[in-house]
Order: sequence, then C-alpha cells, then structure tokens
Amino acid sequence: MTNSTDLTLEQCGQSFLTGAMFTDEHHFHAVTTKLRKESPVHWVEHPDFNPFWVLTKHADVLDVELHPNEFLNAPRAILGNKEADSMREMQGHLVKSLVQMDDPEHRNHRNLTADWFLPKNLATLDGRLKELADRYIDKMVAMGGQCDFASDIAMQYPLYVILAILGLPESDYNRMLRLTQELFGAEDDEFKRDDDALASILQTVADFVAYFDALTEDRRTNPTSDLASVIANGMVNGEPIGHKEQLGYYIIAATAGHDTTSNAMGGAMKALIENPDQLARLQANPSLMTVAVDEMIRWTSPVKHFMRTATVDYEIRGTTIKAGQDVLLSYWAANRDEDVFDDPFKFDIGRAPNKHLAFGFGVHYCLGAMLARMELKALFGALLPRLKSIELAGTPQLTKSTFVSGVKHLPIRYEIV
Ligand code: HEM
Repeated sequence: MTNSTDLTLEQCGQSFLTGAMFTDEHHFHAVTTKLRKESPVHWVEHPDFNPFWVLTKHADVLDVELHPNEFLNAPRAILGNKEADSMREMQGHLVKSLVQMDDPEHRNHRNLTADWFLPKNLATLDGRLKELADRYIDKMVAMGGQCDFASDIAMQYPLYVILAILGLPESDYNRMLRLTQELFGAEDDEFKRDDDALASILQTVADFVAYFDALTEDRRTNPTSDLASVIANGMVNGEPIGHKEQLGYYIIAATAGHDTTSNAMGGAMKALIENPDQLARLQANPSLMTVAVDEMIRWTSPVKHFMRTATVDYEIRGTTIKAGQDVLLSYWAANRDEDVFDDPFKFDIGRAPNKHLAFGFGVHYCLGAMLARMELKALFGALLPRLKSIELAGTPQLTKSTFVSGVKHLPIRYEIV
C-alpha cells in the first residue's frame, strides 16, 4: 500500500472532522502517516468545531493516557461539532458514563462493576462463548457458503454475549442491535434515523432511556445475578448511583461491549482474507491464536479516538498544550507508529510483543478488554479448523464514523466442513 497523500497538513488535520476518512483505511493511514512524520502534535481549526490537537504518535497518546490529572476526560471525551459541544454544556451529558468521568467519581463508579470483568469471573463464561461461537459457525454453514460476515455474524455474536451478560431477554436483541448501530452510526447513511446527526442521537438515547428505566425497575424488585442487577442496585458512597450515571452504565456496557468487538471481528476476517499467508499460518498453528487476537485488535483499532482536556500547560514533543485545550488521541494512527511497531502495515498474526493502544491505557483502560479477547478467540478458534476456503464475494464497506468504526459489510464465499 502507498502511504502518501497530496493533502496539505491543514487538510490532513481537518480529515478527522468527518467520518468519511474512516471509510477508506488506505486514505486514513496515508493522512496519519504524514501527520506522524510532519506534524505529530497537530492543531485543528474549523468554523464548525471547537479547536483541538490531534496526537498520532504512540508515545504521545500514551503520555496523555498516563497523566489523568493533567488531562481530564470531562468535558469533551468525544469529538463533536460546536452545536454538540454547547448542547452538552447546557444539559450536562445526556447520559454520564465512565468515559465522561474523572477521579474520584470515575474510580467509585468503575469499582461498581470492575469485579464483574475480572478474569476469574469471566473464565466461567468461556464454555458459553464457545457454544455461541459454534452456533454462529453452524449458521454460516446453513447460509450455504455465502454471507455478509459483518452483518450476519460479527454484528450479532458480540451483542448476544453482552446482552446475555446484562441479563436481557433474547427477544430484545434485535432492538438493541438497531439502537447501538444508530448511536454509533449517526453519521452513516445506512444507520442514521435522521439527516440531522444530533437529532438522531437524541432520539436513540430517548429509546435507550425508556428501555433501561423499565429494566432498573424490574431488577430493583427482582434482583438476579446478572450485570443489570449490579447496575440497578449499585451504591456509591452509600447512595444509589444517579439516574444519568445508571443509564450511562447500561449504555456503555451495551454499546462499548458490542460495536467495538463486532468491528474487530469483521476487520479481522477481512485482514485474514487479504493476507492468505497469515490465515494459513494461523490454521497451521492454532497456539498462535492468543497473539493473533491482539494483532487483529491492533490492526482494526475499532475505537478510533477519545479526547482529553488539559488542566495545566503541558509540553509534548516541544509543543505546549495550553490548560483548557483539548487533545484527540488517535488510537488507529498510534497503532501504526513506525517507532514502536516493526513493519507496522504488515498484518502479522505472530506479532509479539504487541504494545498496541486499541484498548487505551491507564485508569480508563478498557474494562472489557479481556472479554473482547475471549470473544475473538472463541469465534476464530471455532471457525478456522473448519474453514476449507474463503474469499471476498463483493466489496467490503466501512462505517462512516469518527468514533467507533470498521467493516459494516463483508460479503464472503466460503467452504466450511
Ligand atoms: C475490541 C473490542 C474493544 C475495544 C477496541 C475497546 C476499546 C476501548 C477504549 C479505547 C476505551 C477507552 C480507554 C481509555 O480511555 O484509555 C474503552 C473503554 C471502555 N470499554 Fe472497551 N473496547 C472493546 C470492548 C469492550 C467490551 C467487550 C466491553 C464490555 C462491556 C467494553 C467496555 C468498556 C468500558 C466500560 C470502558 C470505560 C472504561 C473507563 O472509562 O474506565 N469494551 N474501550
């Protein structure tokens, strides 16, 4: 692939403002390779957006992640235009989840469910994940050798897992699938409800609120051992957690636990098809699966960014980020940094060590990282031994979104035994 672009540095920075750049991975990598080389700490200005710095180097993203007192998640955890920023200031966050909190609030709320995501607890899920993975491979067989792997398999399996963990009935799964796609794909023509991205998000959030309020009511009256019961009955400093925080928890579990892993799976399958030597290597050496899964996650980096706001003047690579200014952490760009990864544009299922930042780092490090790895391992662990052949049966399409994105359509033809 070529990593060159004719765009000016200013245009490269502005590419971060719309989802279009994320629908073309070669373009994204050309733009961010140029930024890493020529302007790694890059200031972006646009009349419709509050300005911000873009960081594309691994060391700089890590530096910010490791300084949570100097760089806060509040008030601007995710990139939006001025209209979205001022709505948020007026109303507070529509819902408040861990990614919008800072310590001590963040620590207190994270502790509520942290135990749920510990390896010893998740280990009990392993059998269930394998069973589900087999079910989806059987579905591929039943589909007769052709499917859209992204929407038929990758979008559904992680949703099933996370909703099962939350304790929701199977009859509600399709509704949740649509809502999470609408929330993350508010900019994407296929997923958005309304031409106005903000109006789309507001409508979707209202639907989530109605659904989860009813769930809380139920789990308060009839607590079970599911994650929804932990959230519904959660206490912080001796008080029940607030309504906004509670909703934020449900939504982050249902959304962060879904689209992210789906995008990793769809993108990983695409990478395996495009790199048949790596597919054959993994099939011949199943013990590489644990290492391969991290390469799949580095390669796809489904969460494209989070943002932080500086509390003090802070120098990065000789440039001063002033107190009050915002920085965008480009995980996908950092995960192709030539200073950290040998041959960063090679999909190498044996890559070790693999110090990717796709799960972030530090106090906000992805709570579901272990679960996500287990899901990928279960799915590809079940599929690859039965996979005789596989090829693209059409052109893959990527989601138009600046936040969580990846392959939304992956038509494939395959033989499974
Ligand atoms: C491949 C799949 C996934 C990727 C790439 C991913 C990525 C991320 C990233 C980049 C962050 C922010 C980290 C930071 O700011 O340093 C995050 C946070 C989070 N993720 Fe994931 N995630 C994935 C799967 C999951 C799953 C399966 C869950 C399960 C519920 C989950 C739940 C969360 C939660 C709750 C947070 C907020 C943590 C905090 O702010 O303390 N994620 N994730």
